[in-house]
Amino acid sequence: MRAEALLDGGSPVDGGGAASTPLLKTEMLTVRFGGLAALSEVNFQVAREEVRAVIGPNGAGKSTFFNCLTGVLRPSGGRIIFNGEDITGLRSNLISQKGIARSYQITNILPNATALENVRIAAQSRRHAWNMVSHHSAFADINARAEAALQSVGLLGKAGELAANLSHGEQRNLEIGIALATEPKLLCLDEPTAGMSAAETNETKELIRRIAKDLTILIVEHDMEVVMELCDRITVLHYGQILAEGTPEEIQANPKVLEVYLKT
Ligand SMILES: Nc1ncnc2c1ncn2[C@@H]1O[C@H](COP(=O)(O)OP(=O)(O)O)[C@@H](O)[C@H]1O
Ligand SMILES: [Mg+2]
Repeated sequence: MRAEALLDGGSPVDGGGAASTPLLKTEMLTVRFGGLAALSEVNFQVAREEVRAVIGPNGAGKSTFFNCLTGVLRPSGGRIIFNGEDITGLRSNLISQKGIARSYQITNILPNATALENVRIAAQSRRHAWNMVSHHSAFADINARAEAALQSVGLLGKAGELAANLSHGEQRNLEIGIALATEPKLLCLDEPTAGMSAAETNETKELIRRIAKDLTILIVEHDMEVVMELCDRITVLHYGQILAEGTPEEIQANPKVLEVYLKT
């Protein structure tokens, strides 16, 4: 039995994770900060194995949206259904165990730990302590998983390097590795190429393309070239609401979207 099956929290709804249901769905998702609605009645769906971009001007509510999905923020209203289960308001560690991972906009690594230690800690967080102690095979499993995560972000050769000594681009990719080590079904990337050189951006784009083969990915990204090349569909947020949704081609040709971007 998997450790997560023993945990309370989350209740099955519509179809319990059948392949035909969306992996993620929000219904009327609303977040208010005082008088400001950072998200307002957002109805959103992502299909399994889709790569979806969430774009929009600064302050549109993109990070707030990710914060709700990952349990950092409790929504003021509405529901979040993940893999057929209502996860609204669950704590972030429970949501992580259910399979949503996130890499932060601001680097979130332990600088004085090695690259491998950084991903190993994340791999461990999926398991319960009792499981670790009673099954020595769990240790080998966690090491293997940590190494696989490093490999998939191209950092296996730097496993023993202190995270602080990695380049900025490598550190951002390590963050993606940390998220992957939790074996997510859904990976949320908040501005993965922010602050990267053109060469690093290209490498990260290839990295995301590689890991997207068997994952569902939500990506907040300002680099439109990255968005257009990587994503199946795009959702445009504006003042906490969905302004438009469609393929990259549809979004590029959408007059409402052009107006918002030309104004800012
Ligand atoms: N913790 C908070 N307290 C108050 N207001 C917030 C908080 N977080 C975000 N906001 C406000 O909510 C709106 C959406 O912010 P955010 O989700 O960070 O936008 P984005 O990521 O699209 O730039 C902004 O107006 C922002 O100032
Ligand atoms: Mg943001």
